[in-house]
Amino acid sequence: MSHAPQPLGEPVVRREGREKVTGTARYAAEHHPAGLLYGRIVPATVASGRITAIRTADALAVPGVHTVLTHENAPRIEEPDDPVLAVLQNTRVPHRGWPVALVVAESLEAARAGAEAVRVEYDSADHDTVLTWDHPGMYTPEKANGGYPAVRERGDAEAALAEAPVTVDATYTLGGLHNHPMEPHASSARWADGHLSVHDSSQGSTTVRDTLGQALGLGEDEVTVVSEHVGGGFGSKGTPRPQVVLAAMAARLTGQPVQVSVPRRYMPALVGHRAPTVQRVRLGADRDGTLRVVSHEIATHTSRIKEFVEQAAVPARIMYASPHSSTVHRVVPLDVPSPSWMRAPGEASGMYALESAMDELACALGVDPVELRLRNEPATEPDSGRPFSSRGLAGCLNEGARRFGWYERDPRPAARQEGRLLLGTGVASATYPVLLSPSAASAHVAPDGLYTVRVNATDIGTGARTVLAQIAAAALGTPQDNVTIEIGSSDLPFGSVAGGSSGTASWGTAVHKAATALVRRLAEGGTVPPEGVTVTADTEEEASQDSPYSRHAFGAHFAEVAVDSLTGEVRVRRMLGVFAAGRILNARTARSQFIGGMVMGLGMALTEGSTMDPVYGDFTERDLASYHVPACADVTDLQAHWIDEDDHHLNPMGSKGIGEIGIVGTAAAIGNAVRHATGARLRSLPLTPDKLL
Ligand code: MOS
Repeated sequence: MSHAPQPLGEPVVRREGREKVTGTARYAAEHHPAGLLYGRIVPATVASGRITAIRTADALAVPGVHTVLTHENAPRIEEPDDPVLAVLQNTRVPHRGWPVALVVAESLEAARAGAEAVRVEYDSADHDTVLTWDHPGMYTPEKANGGYPAVRERGDAEAALAEAPVTVDATYTLGGLHNHPMEPHASSARWADGHLSVHDSSQGSTTVRDTLGQALGLGEDEVTVVSEHVGGGFGSKGTPRPQVVLAAMAARLTGQPVQVSVPRRYMPALVGHRAPTVQRVRLGADRDGTLRVVSHEIATHTSRIKEFVEQAAVPARIMYASPHSSTVHRVVPLDVPSPSWMRAPGEASGMYALESAMDELACALGVDPVELRLRNEPATEPDSGRPFSSRGLAGCLNEGARRFGWYERDPRPAARQEGRLLLGTGVASATYPVLLSPSAASAHVAPDGLYTVRVNATDIGTGARTVLAQIAAAALGTPQDNVTIEIGSSDLPFGSVAGGSSGTASWGTAVHKAATALVRRLAEGGTVPPEGVTVTADTEEEASQDSPYSRHAFGAHFAEVAVDSLTGEVRVRRMLGVFAAGRILNARTARSQFIGGMVMGLGMALTEGSTMDPVYGDFTERDLASYHVPACADVTDLQAHWIDEDDHHLNPMGSKGIGEIGIVGTAAAIGNAVRHATGARLRSLPLTPDKLL
């Protein structure tokens, strides 16, 4: 082949880019086997209660309607680990939008008409869907998400706060947020000869296979789940969703392939959300800015059917040195849809509050906010005392300040005006943990010297195929064109979910191990037999090891805003992020991840918000006309840079995760810039004009 091996880090273009832009890449809802039926979910119209009757006769009379699944006739399933998947099993309605029936028809239109004709009667109960700080029923769980203890105390935070010369005590409020990937959730299922085959829009089809197998009583070799191309997930596809169970049930009942797509308007109730949080941050410092105490308490909600605790106070355990610290999570079950993962779950909300409070402290002290953060750099991880494998926060702050021209600012608020515009700048830190999950890979060489690497990775738009080919080619010492990558099917060696910013590390480690083992095998000599040589490897051992190091990516965001003093509109003029995330393996796709996260953070700051309607007990914004994600016009000058780290305590590639850190701290940088521009400290997002006038 023509190309020499390329080193890791090169901006290699996406392998499937042409397929995607030409429309030939097929997504889960674009598979249309003969005899395909369409399922349409019927959502509950009460927020709490029981179904007392379901009348399906009118629906069955709609031309083209094949059948209607309800709790009365749907196949029974084994109780799934995730209660959101136990659909059509009983009469309970835990929240508005919960699936109470599935209409299956020969066309999508007939299914929809049928769904509208299903009559459901409820015995409805009072509901309560609005989170407050001291909500009745609020409790302190044992663990927050990620297995972190809900409560951590160091020293005596209360005493330190009482004695500190300068303190900040601020409460920040974040409403719910929704992921809204471009491709809504969809599944197509078919049974043939006792084998269930599914196309699912998922971040991890090994998990979907295992979940379906458990629910339906099938073995690993009786289920295949394919997620070849996925149009984004941002966490909402990180766990199987009800539509895949419904599609499998309906296909079993009808004996025909069935596709179930989740309409955009049903997504807020069915695919999770970033749980709202109320966060109280108290900081105490000496007059020179040296922190004495960091206290971060959060209150959040979960649903009635599962405990999900946004771990928003966890980043405060590792960010800044302080002899005293208290971090506490509390949660209350409400009649709401189950919250779930949304890009940097925990970090994105928690760092908004912590980094806003750090800015408040900088203002109270009259210390530059970059300088304040640099002054509180810890020598070791404050929570555990472990050394950091590498900690690039100071580097990111300094490099960002230089590139952004930070120190040209006049620190006084409302000091810069352009006509009716008020201009300001803000900064915030970012962090995200280094995670690794069990994955396996195989590497095969054919007699012609071409390689095939197999791993059930999922490319959710990130460029996973491409970076895995780079990792394999580098380990094999061959040009990338010589490597075929197969991903996106549960029949491949098992892969972890594309989540927790851990995909490349997890799959890549398995790929690297398999590839290097193959190289060793070939070095032993002998000719390659006609069927080739295959070597497999997995990361079970690496994933089970607890590192003696505290391992995190860090970053710094800088934002400049213009606030219209007449309309209250906030525009982000420029935003610049610098990240320290180990070794960057593909400059092109990494940049895309960073700026994608930053754009999502811009949305969190200015436009995105899900409000809970207390009367109906439901999220109000259920489409992209009301849930405002940033558009091109909102993003003007956006830069992402990085500092390459040489960290040998990570994985064979030396990489940290990059998928989520871009959204961490972004909203705080923008809010801090708004404070600088206007003098107004707003403590709830999004920063819509009504709050600024
Ligand atoms: Mo991401 S929220 O870890 O899929």
